[in-house]
Amino acid sequence: MLNIVANWKMNLSFIESEIFMGKFFQQQPEIDHLNLILAPSFPFLPKLKEMIQNHPIQIAAQDTFWMKSGAYTGEVSPLMLKEMGCSYVLVGHSERRQYFGETDIIVEKKAIAVHQARMIPIVCIGEHRESYEEGKTRNVILQQLERVKSINPLWVAYEPVWSIGSGKIPSKEEVAKVTDLILSECPHANVLYGGSVSIDNQRMFCSIDSLHGLLVGGLSVKLPDFCVFLEKFKNI
Ligand code: PGA
Repeated sequence: MLNIVANWKMNLSFIESEIFMGKFFQQQPEIDHLNLILAPSFPFLPKLKEMIQNHPIQIAAQDTFWMKSGAYTGEVSPLMLKEMGCSYVLVGHSERRQYFGETDIIVEKKAIAVHQARMIPIVCIGEHRESYEEGKTRNVILQQLERVKSINPLWVAYEPVWSIGSGKIPSKEEVAKVTDLILSECPHANVLYGGSVSIDNQRMFCSIDSLHGLLVGGLSVKLPDFCVFLEKFKNI
């Protein structure tokens, strides 16, 4: 079953999220053929948990802190996320690495904490444009995997930084090559691709046999496009 993770990022206010989900259920997109995982902002998690009852949808958080509890003002622990119904947590998204200085060491701590709280970490990795152009993608991937590769279960999202939100995507061969590299390092992992996934290119990504799913940003907060996207997998 194809895994689709919808990363809403810091989009949709609480009220907008509620309206979005209301419209989503009205449109009733067929999703039985997918493992659909929604990752809203923290404040909406409890409401989403309530809204998806009786629907085949799972919940992810977009980030976490690594400590269980304590004097860490502003942070949210994996146990709190588990309590809010999360089964997955995104870790080390390139925006976290870029704007909040998350290093591979921090990503490792977070991924282990998520695992210990009995959720699945979705570790995001990917090269910047410069590394891509210099042919260093392989080195970046290996380095970012090194500290997390023994965590099991583990999901890895390959998201080239230059592709996120840009409309540019790597070729099928390039994605397949990185997917195979990730699987050679972590044969137990589920591998996703993320970065400018759209209705126009979803078929291409689906033709990569070794890929287990897609991580979708911009498209996942647009209705009805998101519903069209989900339904289209039925015929792929
Ligand atoms: P995008 O974002 O689909 O808008 O490129 C993907 C992501 O950052 O997870």
